[in-house]
Amino acid sequence: MRLEIIQPDDWHVHVREGEVLQYTIPEIGLHFARAVIMPNTNSPIVSIDAMLAYREAIHAAMGQTSFEPLMTLYLTADFDPSILKSAKEFPWFHGVKLYPKGATTGAEQGVLNWLEHAEVFEQMVLLNIPLMVHAEVLSPDVDVFDREAVCLEENLQPLIEAYPTLRVVLEHVSTQEGVNWVKAHYPQVAATVTAHHLCFDRNALLNTRIHPDLFCLPVLKRREHQQALIAAVTSGHPGFFLGTDSAPQAARDTYCASGCAGIYTQPYALSLYTQVFFEQQALAHLEGFTSLNGARFYGRSPNTQRVCLVQKPMKVPEFLPWALEDRLTPICAGQQLAWQVEGV
Ligand code: DOR
Ligand code: ZN
Repeated sequence: MRLEIIQPDDWHVHVREGEVLQYTIPEIGLHFARAVIMPNTNSPIVSIDAMLAYREAIHAAMGQTSFEPLMTLYLTADFDPSILKSAKEFPWFHGVKLYPKGATTGAEQGVLNWLEHAEVFEQMVLLNIPLMVHAEVLSPDVDVFDREAVCLEENLQPLIEAYPTLRVVLEHVSTQEGVNWVKAHYPQVAATVTAHHLCFDRNALLNTRIHPDLFCLPVLKRREHQQALIAAVTSGHPGFFLGTDSAPQAARDTYCASGCAGIYTQPYALSLYTQVFFEQQALAHLEGFTSLNGARFYGRSPNTQRVCLVQKPMKVPEFLPWALEDRLTPICAGQQLAWQVEGV
């Protein structure tokens, strides 16, 4: 079976920095025309200069493939809202990312009290800049599996009520509550959905053995939530779009006593998403999810290039090259996937 679609965009990607860009960057251009680059690098992207330098380093690492990196700024406690006006002048500036402090890998400099950042949100409303949110609370009283649902109530709902024209993206939605919230508030809000939250539930992470390479944040949830995500994306609802949250890291940071959250899906994500739509007999809605909904929400044109998805088995390598004499374990390492991506 073959299926031709408009070339997809990835609306949520981590590429890290330095030497490893040579591994992370060329993989994106293989399949995606644009990618939203997350700002949670070791020194977070908090200024125009940092954003320009990061973008340049990304371009320098492109090699044979190419894509358009869309850059983001990290909302830190001391974020200066006056830089947003200059940022907005760059057509490749995409938006601001909010991490609750300490909520995930690279979120140490995130925010504690969201509504304290009124000046930033007011400026974003004025300039029509979207806010991308890692929606989890980090209170010891809240169970790790409830962090997203509680965050919707405690932080996101008050935020969109305080700023009814601020456009908000619930990144890597992982729960039924998240799906319901997006449907209730679209088109002010939308959500990215990862391939791993669609393909796996928490049993895959914590079965009779632990699988650290399936540890991500938000953590995988129980089957009912996975099914709610699958139903949302395959229904064709325009508020859900592709964002891999592909998060590469050295194997030594995945397989250790205190492993980091992050799953590397980049080159295999499109194959996995396609399989999900295929299994639901919803391939008619695949292109909307991969290539149209995000562009429409963000007010960007759809891509003009096309790609072809072919039902042809593909073996995922056990590991991929990485820097510092280490390696990178991709999602589904050593397994067979059902779909491949070809140019047209
Ligand atoms: O699993 C994750 N890894 N979730 C995130 O939100 C951040 C990411 C990372 O940067 O590694
Ligand atoms: Zn992320």
